[in-house]
Amino acid sequence: MRTLIKNIKNIIGIIEEPQAYKKAEALSIVESLNDGFILIEDEKISDYGPMIDCPTEADETIDASGSLVLPAWCDSHTHIVFAASREKEFEMKIKGMSYEDIAAAGGGILNSADKLKDCSEDDLYLMAKGRLDEVTQYGTGAIEIKSGYGLSVESELKMLRVIRRLAANSPVSIKSSFLGAHAIPAAYKERREDYIDLIINEMLPQIAEEKLADYCDVFCEKGFFTVAETDRILKAAAEYGIPPKIHANQLSCSGAVQVGIANNAISVDHLEIMGDAEIEALLNSNTIPTVLPSCSYYINIPYAPARKMIDAGLGITIATDFNPGSSPSGNIPFLLSLACTKMKLTPEEAFNAVTINGAYAMQLENEVGSITKGKLANLIITKNIPSLTYIPYMFGTNHIDKVLVRGRVM
Ligand code: NIG
Ligand code: FE
Repeated sequence: MRTLIKNIKNIIGIIEEPQAYKKAEALSIVESLNDGFILIEDEKISDYGPMIDCPTEADETIDASGSLVLPAWCDSHTHIVFAASREKEFEMKIKGMSYEDIAAAGGGILNSADKLKDCSEDDLYLMAKGRLDEVTQYGTGAIEIKSGYGLSVESELKMLRVIRRLAANSPVSIKSSFLGAHAIPAAYKERREDYIDLIINEMLPQIAEEKLADYCDVFCEKGFFTVAETDRILKAAAEYGIPPKIHANQLSCSGAVQVGIANNAISVDHLEIMGDAEIEALLNSNTIPTVLPSCSYYINIPYAPARKMIDAGLGITIATDFNPGSSPSGNIPFLLSLACTKMKLTPEEAFNAVTINGAYAMQLENEVGSITKGKLANLIITKNIPSLTYIPYMFGTNHIDKVLVRGRVM
Protein backbone atom coordinates (compact mmCIF):
# COMPACT_ATOMS: atom_id res chain seq x y z
CA MET A 1 0.00 0.00 0.00
CA ARG A 2 1.45 3.36 -1.13
CA THR A 3 -0.03 6.56 0.27
CA LEU A 4 1.16 9.85 -1.15
CA ILE A 5 0.76 13.18 0.63
CA LYS A 6 1.36 15.92 -1.94
CA ASN A 7 1.42 19.71 -2.27
CA ILE A 8 2.47 20.07 1.39
CA LYS A 9 3.08 23.76 2.08
CA ASN A 10 5.75 22.97 4.67
CA ILE A 11 7.12 19.68 6.00
CA ILE A 12 8.33 20.39 9.53
CA GLY A 13 10.55 18.29 11.79
CA ILE A 14 12.76 16.56 9.26
CA ILE A 15 15.72 14.69 10.74
CA GLU A 16 17.79 13.05 8.02
CA GLU A 17 20.05 10.89 10.15
CA PRO A 18 18.50 9.28 13.24
CA GLN A 19 19.73 10.90 16.44
CA ALA A 20 19.07 10.42 20.13
CA TYR A 21 17.56 13.73 21.21
CA LYS A 22 18.11 17.46 20.97
CA LYS A 23 19.60 19.61 23.69
CA ALA A 24 20.94 23.12 24.40
CA GLU A 25 21.09 25.30 21.25
CA ALA A 26 20.26 22.32 19.02
CA LEU A 27 16.85 22.15 20.69
CA SER A 28 15.83 25.23 18.71
CA ILE A 29 16.72 23.74 15.33
CA VAL A 30 13.75 22.46 13.31
CA GLU A 31 14.44 21.42 9.74
CA SER A 32 11.73 21.95 7.19
CA LEU A 33 11.04 21.79 3.47
CA ASN A 34 8.63 23.96 1.47
CA ASP A 35 6.28 22.61 -1.21
CA GLY A 36 6.93 18.94 -0.72
CA PHE A 37 5.57 15.40 -0.72
CA ILE A 38 5.77 12.45 1.65
CA LEU A 39 5.42 8.87 0.42
CA ILE A 40 4.24 6.18 2.84
CA GLU A 41 4.80 2.48 2.23
CA ASP A 42 4.00 -0.33 4.67
CA GLU A 43 3.26 1.97 7.61
CA LYS A 44 6.54 3.86 7.20
CA ILE A 45 7.85 7.03 5.61
CA SER A 46 9.63 5.70 2.54
CA ASP A 47 10.47 9.00 0.90
CA TYR A 48 9.96 12.75 1.04
CA GLY A 49 11.20 15.66 -1.01
CA PRO A 50 10.27 18.69 -3.10
CA MET A 51 7.19 18.51 -5.35
CA ILE A 52 9.33 18.47 -8.51
CA ASP A 53 10.41 14.95 -7.46
CA CYS A 54 6.92 13.81 -6.44
CA PRO A 55 6.09 10.24 -7.53
CA THR A 56 3.04 9.83 -9.76
CA GLU A 57 1.87 6.37 -8.70
CA ALA A 58 0.11 5.71 -5.40
CA ASP A 59 -2.85 3.70 -4.13
CA GLU A 60 -4.13 6.65 -2.19
CA THR A 61 -3.34 10.36 -2.50
CA ILE A 62 -3.93 13.11 0.05
CA ASP A 63 -3.76 16.68 -1.23
CA ALA A 64 -2.26 18.78 1.59
CA SER A 65 -2.37 22.17 -0.17
CA GLY A 66 -2.06 24.94 2.42
CA SER A 67 -1.15 22.47 5.20
CA LEU A 68 1.89 21.85 7.33
CA VAL A 69 2.86 18.24 7.97
CA LEU A 70 4.53 17.45 11.30
CA PRO A 71 5.52 14.27 13.10
CA ALA A 72 2.77 13.17 15.49
CA TRP A 73 3.38 14.11 19.13
CA CYS A 74 5.12 11.72 21.53
CA ASP A 75 3.57 11.95 25.01
CA SER A 76 6.02 10.27 27.38
CA HIS A 77 4.14 10.61 30.70
CA THR A 78 0.43 9.85 31.23
CA HIS A 79 -1.95 8.11 33.59
CA ILE A 80 -4.91 7.60 31.21
CA VAL A 81 -6.15 4.40 32.85
CA PHE A 82 -8.47 5.57 35.62
CA ALA A 83 -11.96 4.66 36.73
CA ALA A 84 -13.49 8.03 37.58
CA SER A 85 -12.98 11.75 37.14
CA ARG A 86 -12.30 13.96 40.19
CA GLU A 87 -14.03 17.24 39.45
CA LYS A 88 -15.14 17.52 43.11
CA GLU A 89 -11.47 18.11 43.89
CA PHE A 90 -11.45 20.84 41.26
CA GLU A 91 -14.07 22.66 43.31
CA MET A 92 -12.04 22.11 46.52
CA LYS A 93 -9.05 23.58 44.76
CA ILE A 94 -11.00 26.65 43.66
CA LYS A 95 -11.92 27.19 47.31
CA GLY A 96 -8.24 27.30 48.20
CA MET A 97 -7.19 23.76 49.11
CA SER A 98 -3.77 22.63 47.87
CA TYR A 99 -2.96 19.34 46.15
CA GLU A 100 -1.58 18.07 49.50
CA ASP A 101 -4.67 19.29 51.46
CA ILE A 102 -6.96 17.46 49.06
CA ALA A 103 -4.94 14.25 49.33
CA ALA A 104 -5.00 14.49 53.14
CA ALA A 105 -8.81 14.93 53.03
CA GLY A 106 -9.25 11.57 51.30
CA GLY A 107 -9.00 12.87 47.75
CA GLY A 108 -6.07 12.39 45.46
CA ILE A 109 -4.49 9.13 44.41
CA LEU A 110 -6.22 7.06 47.13
CA ASN A 111 -9.59 8.32 45.91
CA SER A 112 -8.75 7.10 42.39
CA ALA A 113 -7.54 3.75 43.79
CA ASP A 114 -10.78 3.31 45.65
CA LYS A 115 -12.83 3.78 42.47
CA LEU A 116 -10.57 1.58 40.38
CA LYS A 117 -10.79 -1.38 42.75
CA ASP A 118 -14.50 -1.85 41.94
CA CYS A 119 -14.19 -1.26 38.20
CA SER A 120 -14.01 -4.29 35.90
CA GLU A 121 -11.09 -4.70 33.55
CA ASP A 122 -13.45 -4.38 30.57
CA ASP A 123 -14.95 -1.10 31.78
CA LEU A 124 -11.54 0.26 32.61
CA TYR A 125 -10.35 -0.68 29.14
CA LEU A 126 -13.28 1.04 27.42
CA MET A 127 -12.75 4.28 29.36
CA ALA A 128 -9.01 4.31 28.70
CA LYS A 129 -9.57 3.49 25.03
CA GLY A 130 -11.87 6.49 24.78
CA ARG A 131 -9.12 8.73 26.19
CA LEU A 132 -6.51 7.21 23.89
CA ASP A 133 -8.75 7.83 20.87
CA GLU A 134 -9.31 11.40 22.03
CA VAL A 135 -5.61 12.23 22.37
CA THR A 136 -4.93 10.61 19.02
CA GLN A 137 -7.27 13.20 17.49
CA TYR A 138 -5.15 15.91 19.18
CA GLY A 139 -2.16 14.47 17.28
CA THR A 140 -0.54 12.02 19.70
CA GLY A 141 0.96 9.00 17.94
CA ALA A 142 3.08 7.48 20.74
CA ILE A 143 2.33 7.43 24.43
CA GLU A 144 3.54 6.11 27.77
CA ILE A 145 0.85 5.00 30.23
CA LYS A 146 1.30 4.29 33.94
CA SER A 147 -0.40 2.06 36.46
CA GLY A 148 -0.51 3.45 40.02
CA TYR A 149 -4.21 3.73 40.80
CA GLY A 150 -4.32 0.07 41.79
CA LEU A 151 -2.06 -0.09 44.85
CA SER A 152 -2.85 -3.80 45.36
CA VAL A 153 -1.48 -6.81 43.50
CA GLU A 154 -4.80 -7.45 41.81
CA SER A 155 -5.56 -3.88 40.78
CA GLU A 156 -2.04 -3.01 39.64
CA LEU A 157 -2.07 -6.11 37.41
CA LYS A 158 -5.54 -5.14 36.18
CA MET A 159 -4.28 -1.71 35.13
CA LEU A 160 -1.20 -3.08 33.41
CA ARG A 161 -3.30 -5.65 31.53
CA VAL A 162 -5.54 -2.82 30.35
CA ILE A 163 -2.45 -1.01 29.02
CA ARG A 164 -1.34 -4.18 27.25
CA ARG A 165 -4.78 -4.49 25.67
CA LEU A 166 -4.67 -0.87 24.51
CA ALA A 167 -1.33 -1.58 22.87
CA ALA A 168 -2.70 -4.70 21.16
CA ASN A 169 -5.75 -2.89 19.79
CA SER A 170 -4.31 0.44 18.70
CA PRO A 171 -1.73 1.42 16.06
CA VAL A 172 -0.37 4.01 18.53
CA SER A 173 3.02 3.02 19.99
CA ILE A 174 2.44 2.41 23.71
CA LYS A 175 4.91 1.98 26.58
CA SER A 176 3.80 0.96 30.03
CA SER A 177 5.16 1.91 33.44
CA PHE A 178 4.52 0.13 36.71
CA LEU A 179 3.75 2.76 39.38
CA GLY A 180 2.76 0.61 42.35
CA ALA A 181 4.76 3.11 44.44
CA HIS A 182 2.36 5.98 43.73
CA ALA A 183 0.98 6.28 47.28
CA ILE A 184 0.86 4.23 50.47
CA PRO A 185 -2.64 2.64 50.65
CA ALA A 186 -4.67 3.54 53.77
CA ALA A 187 -4.45 -0.02 55.15
CA TYR A 188 -0.64 0.22 55.18
CA LYS A 189 -0.45 3.69 56.73
CA GLU A 190 1.15 2.41 59.93
CA ARG A 191 3.26 -0.26 58.24
CA ARG A 192 4.61 1.23 55.03
CA GLU A 193 7.51 -1.25 54.97
CA ASP A 194 4.97 -4.01 54.36
CA TYR A 195 3.59 -2.20 51.31
CA ILE A 196 7.09 -1.78 49.89
CA ASP A 197 7.68 -5.49 50.50
CA LEU A 198 4.44 -6.20 48.64
CA ILE A 199 5.67 -4.16 45.66
CA ILE A 200 9.02 -5.92 45.64
CA ASN A 201 8.03 -9.47 46.54
CA GLU A 202 4.56 -9.82 45.01
CA MET A 203 3.91 -7.21 42.35
CA LEU A 204 7.25 -7.01 40.56
CA PRO A 205 7.73 -10.78 40.09
CA GLN A 206 4.27 -11.21 38.54
CA ILE A 207 4.66 -8.13 36.36
CA ALA A 208 8.03 -9.37 35.14
CA GLU A 209 6.64 -12.85 34.53
CA GLU A 210 3.80 -11.49 32.38
CA LYS A 211 6.10 -8.85 30.81
CA LEU A 212 3.61 -6.15 31.69
CA ALA A 213 5.93 -3.18 32.26
CA ASP A 214 8.58 -1.42 30.21
CA TYR A 215 9.51 0.87 33.11
CA CYS A 216 9.27 1.17 36.86
CA ASP A 217 8.05 4.48 38.28
CA VAL A 218 8.02 5.78 41.88
CA PHE A 219 6.43 8.97 43.20
CA CYS A 220 9.54 10.03 45.12
CA GLU A 221 8.21 12.89 47.22
CA LYS A 222 7.66 14.10 50.75
CA GLY A 223 4.54 12.32 52.03
CA PHE A 224 4.80 9.61 49.37
CA PHE A 225 8.04 7.59 48.94
CA THR A 226 11.42 8.51 50.38
CA VAL A 227 14.69 8.50 48.49
CA ALA A 228 15.78 5.31 50.31
CA GLU A 229 12.49 3.56 49.49
CA THR A 230 12.73 4.69 45.89
CA ASP A 231 16.26 3.35 45.64
CA ARG A 232 15.17 -0.01 47.02
CA ILE A 233 12.24 -0.34 44.61
CA LEU A 234 14.26 0.73 41.56
CA LYS A 235 17.04 -1.71 42.40
CA ALA A 236 14.50 -4.52 42.75
CA ALA A 237 12.99 -3.62 39.35
CA ALA A 238 16.45 -3.52 37.79
CA GLU A 239 16.92 -7.17 38.76
CA TYR A 240 14.09 -7.94 36.34
CA GLY A 241 15.61 -5.68 33.69
CA ILE A 242 12.94 -3.00 34.17
CA PRO A 243 14.55 0.48 34.04
CA PRO A 244 13.23 3.53 35.91
CA LYS A 245 11.25 6.56 34.77
CA ILE A 246 10.30 8.42 37.93
CA HIS A 247 8.22 11.23 39.42
CA ALA A 248 10.78 13.62 40.90
CA ASN A 249 10.93 17.06 42.54
CA GLN A 250 7.26 17.93 42.02
CA LEU A 251 6.62 19.44 45.44
CA SER A 252 10.06 19.56 47.03
CA CYS A 253 13.77 19.28 46.39
CA SER A 254 14.18 15.88 47.94
CA GLY A 255 17.05 14.09 46.22
CA ALA A 256 14.64 12.37 43.83
CA VAL A 257 16.49 13.54 40.70
CA GLN A 258 19.76 12.18 42.06
CA VAL A 259 18.33 8.79 43.01
CA GLY A 260 16.78 8.51 39.55
CA ILE A 261 20.10 9.27 37.88
CA ALA A 262 21.99 6.90 40.20
CA ASN A 263 19.65 4.14 39.03
CA ASN A 264 20.07 5.04 35.34
CA ALA A 265 16.56 6.39 34.92
CA ILE A 266 15.49 6.92 31.32
CA SER A 267 13.79 10.12 32.48
CA VAL A 268 13.03 12.07 35.64
CA ASP A 269 9.69 13.82 35.40
CA HIS A 270 7.96 16.90 36.90
CA LEU A 271 10.97 18.92 38.23
CA GLU A 272 8.95 21.91 39.36
CA ILE A 273 11.34 22.41 42.31
CA MET A 274 14.92 22.30 41.09
CA GLY A 275 18.24 23.48 42.52
CA ASP A 276 21.54 23.97 40.73
CA ALA A 277 22.77 20.61 42.05
CA GLU A 278 19.91 18.85 40.22
CA ILE A 279 20.75 20.56 36.94
CA GLU A 280 24.42 19.72 37.39
CA ALA A 281 23.61 16.08 38.08
CA LEU A 282 21.45 15.88 34.94
CA LEU A 283 24.22 17.42 32.84
CA ASN A 284 26.46 14.53 33.83
CA SER A 285 23.93 11.82 32.97
CA ASN A 286 21.99 10.20 30.13
CA THR A 287 18.70 10.76 31.94
CA ILE A 288 16.37 13.14 30.12
CA PRO A 289 14.44 15.66 32.23
CA THR A 290 10.71 15.78 31.49
CA VAL A 291 8.54 18.76 32.40
CA LEU A 292 4.77 18.77 32.73
CA PRO A 293 3.44 22.32 32.32
CA SER A 294 -0.28 21.46 32.38
CA CYS A 295 0.18 20.01 35.89
CA SER A 296 1.64 23.35 37.05
CA TYR A 297 -1.19 25.17 35.33
CA TYR A 298 -3.90 23.02 36.86
CA ILE A 299 -2.71 22.63 40.47
CA ASN A 300 -1.13 26.06 40.63
CA ILE A 301 2.41 25.11 41.45
CA PRO A 302 5.58 26.63 39.95
CA TYR A 303 6.51 25.74 36.38
CA ALA A 304 9.67 23.68 36.03
CA PRO A 305 12.63 25.97 35.19
CA ALA A 306 12.83 24.64 31.64
CA ARG A 307 14.45 27.77 30.19
CA LYS A 308 17.23 27.62 32.77
CA MET A 309 17.73 23.91 32.15
CA ILE A 310 18.06 24.36 28.39
CA ASP A 311 20.40 27.35 28.79
CA ALA A 312 22.54 25.21 31.09
CA GLY A 313 22.93 22.73 28.22
CA LEU A 314 20.18 20.18 28.83
CA GLY A 315 17.61 18.69 26.51
CA ILE A 316 14.08 18.41 27.85
CA THR A 317 10.92 16.52 27.07
CA ILE A 318 7.45 17.99 27.61
CA ALA A 319 4.56 15.64 28.39
CA THR A 320 0.91 15.99 29.44
CA ASP A 321 0.80 13.94 32.67
CA PHE A 322 -2.85 13.30 31.65
CA ASN A 323 -4.51 12.12 34.90
CA PRO A 324 -7.71 12.89 36.82
CA GLY A 325 -6.04 14.68 39.75
CA SER A 326 -3.25 16.99 38.65
CA SER A 327 -3.60 17.33 34.88
CA PRO A 328 -6.98 16.36 33.44
CA SER A 329 -5.94 17.00 29.84
CA GLY A 330 -4.01 15.18 27.15
CA ASN A 331 -3.85 18.11 24.78
CA ILE A 332 -0.31 18.61 23.46
CA PRO A 333 -1.09 21.75 21.41
CA PHE A 334 -2.13 23.41 24.69
CA LEU A 335 1.20 22.31 26.22
CA LEU A 336 3.04 24.02 23.38
CA SER A 337 1.31 27.26 24.35
CA LEU A 338 2.09 26.84 28.04
CA ALA A 339 5.72 26.02 27.29
CA CYS A 340 6.06 29.21 25.25
CA THR A 341 4.12 31.61 27.46
CA LYS A 342 4.98 30.25 30.91
CA MET A 343 8.37 28.62 30.43
CA LYS A 344 9.69 31.01 27.75
CA LEU A 345 10.57 28.30 25.29
CA THR A 346 10.55 29.16 21.61
CA PRO A 347 7.94 27.34 19.50
CA GLU A 348 10.78 25.35 17.92
CA GLU A 349 12.14 24.23 21.31
CA ALA A 350 8.67 23.24 22.48
CA PHE A 351 8.06 21.35 19.23
CA ASN A 352 11.27 19.30 19.57
CA ALA A 353 10.46 18.62 23.21
CA VAL A 354 7.12 16.96 22.29
CA THR A 355 8.40 15.09 19.24
CA ILE A 356 11.95 13.71 19.02
CA ASN A 357 12.74 14.25 22.72
CA GLY A 358 9.43 12.69 23.77
CA ALA A 359 10.29 9.71 21.61
CA TYR A 360 13.68 9.41 23.34
CA ALA A 361 12.00 9.45 26.76
CA MET A 362 10.14 6.28 25.65
CA GLN A 363 13.19 4.75 23.92
CA LEU A 364 11.34 5.13 20.61
CA GLU A 365 13.69 7.62 18.97
CA ASN A 366 14.49 5.21 16.13
CA GLU A 367 10.81 4.67 15.29
CA VAL A 368 8.93 7.94 15.77
CA GLY A 369 9.32 11.64 16.57
CA SER A 370 10.56 13.04 13.26
CA ILE A 371 10.12 12.98 9.50
CA THR A 372 12.84 10.45 8.72
CA LYS A 373 12.91 7.77 6.04
CA GLY A 374 12.21 4.42 7.66
CA LYS A 375 10.38 5.83 10.68
CA LEU A 376 6.69 5.10 11.22
CA ALA A 377 4.34 7.34 9.25
CA ASN A 378 2.90 9.00 12.36
CA LEU A 379 1.95 12.38 10.97
CA ILE A 380 -0.15 15.44 11.65
CA ILE A 381 -1.63 17.28 8.67
CA THR A 382 -2.71 20.73 9.80
CA LYS A 383 -5.48 22.92 8.49
CA ASN A 384 -4.44 25.88 6.36
CA ILE A 385 -2.24 27.75 8.86
CA PRO A 386 0.76 30.01 8.20
CA SER A 387 3.47 28.55 10.44
CA LEU A 388 4.51 26.28 13.31
CA THR A 389 4.41 29.31 15.64
CA TYR A 390 0.73 29.78 14.82
CA ILE A 391 -0.12 26.58 16.77
CA PRO A 392 0.98 27.81 20.25
CA TYR A 393 0.07 31.38 19.34
CA MET A 394 -3.58 30.78 18.50
CA PHE A 395 -4.19 28.49 21.45
CA GLY A 396 -7.43 26.68 22.15
CA THR A 397 -8.25 26.35 18.45
CA ASN A 398 -7.99 22.99 16.74
CA HIS A 399 -5.47 23.41 13.93
CA ILE A 400 -5.35 19.72 13.01
CA ASP A 401 -7.02 18.42 9.89
CA LYS A 402 -5.87 14.78 9.90
CA VAL A 403 -3.76 12.50 12.06
CA LEU A 404 -2.06 9.46 10.56
CA VAL A 405 -0.70 6.66 12.71
CA ARG A 406 1.31 3.98 10.93
CA GLY A 407 0.12 5.57 7.70
CA ARG A 408 -3.56 5.16 8.59
CA VAL A 409 -5.90 8.14 8.89
CA MET A 410 -7.33 8.03 12.42
O1 NIG B 1 1.97 13.01 38.04
N1 NIG B 1 2.43 13.22 41.15
C1 NIG B 1 1.94 12.12 41.20
N2 NIG B 1 1.09 11.56 40.37
C2 NIG B 1 0.27 12.27 39.44
C3 NIG B 1 -0.97 12.77 40.04
C4 NIG B 1 -1.82 11.72 40.49
C5 NIG B 1 -3.17 12.14 40.97
O2 NIG B 1 -3.35 13.18 41.64
O3 NIG B 1 -4.05 11.36 40.67
C6 NIG B 1 1.08 13.36 38.78
O4 NIG B 1 0.86 14.56 38.99
FE1 FE C 1 2.44 11.77 36.67
